[in-house]
Amino acid sequence: MTNVEKIKQTETYVHNELSGEASGHDWWHIYRVTKLAKTIASVEGADVFICEMAALLHDIADEKLNESEEAGLKKVESWLQRIEVEDASMKHIMEIIASMSFKGGGQPPMKTLEGQVVQDADRLDALGSIGIARTFAFGGAKGNIMYDPSIKPRESMSKEDYQKRDNTAINHFYEKLLKLKDLMNTPYGKQLAEGRHQYMEQFLDQFYREWEGER
Ligand code: ADP
Ligand code: NI
Repeated sequence: MTNVEKIKQTETYVHNELSGEASGHDWWHIYRVTKLAKTIASVEGADVFICEMAALLHDIADEKLNESEEAGLKKVESWLQRIEVEDASMKHIMEIIASMSFKGGGQPPMKTLEGQVVQDADRLDALGSIGIARTFAFGGAKGNIMYDPSIKPRESMSKEDYQKRDNTAINHFYEKLLKLKDLMNTPYGKQLAEGRHQYMEQFLDQFYREWEGER
């Protein structure tokens, strides 16, 4: 099987595995992350096959879809064996996916350029207009409210208020999304994140103005 065929087969496999996932880990997230990973890989001179395969498979090992993280990683490994990805590439792809799904107190830094590219692509999909849409879709699915201006700043909050604030979609921008641009690995990833970051800042400005009945 050629690399092109391995990619095609993997696309079909991932599409089947993830269709029907409404948690934000849907096929179209994979589609976008894979496209971004390919673009960043070309610009940064990374191995495009490794990046594309890792991006396609990066959510297959997710805890939400498996009994455990180890079971998820085994599933990815079995797939790579089945389509006969050579050992060195398999090891590299597995290492990227294991680092991306690592949950124990923050992700370890990515060891290889290819890992950095895929992580950048995944983070970029949490930014910009898609990032905004995913945030409100996620909040809505959880039954969270969009925003509550009555909640006081963090320092003077009761625990109850903090939890309420913690659960609004708008709060997610401050807890996570606006911090992502400074965590980007590659120069091109940083550049793309900068544009998407500015777009989110603009969105928040407009959101607060409209909230108060302004233009
Ligand atoms: P990933 O691991 O691909 O970044 P997550 O499972 O962390 O994805 O989140 C999926 C999407 O939902 C992302 O766009 C993320 O920003 C958004 N999200 C995660 N947690 C929250 C939250 N508490 N409120 C609103 N959106 C969230
Ligand atoms: Ni992802």
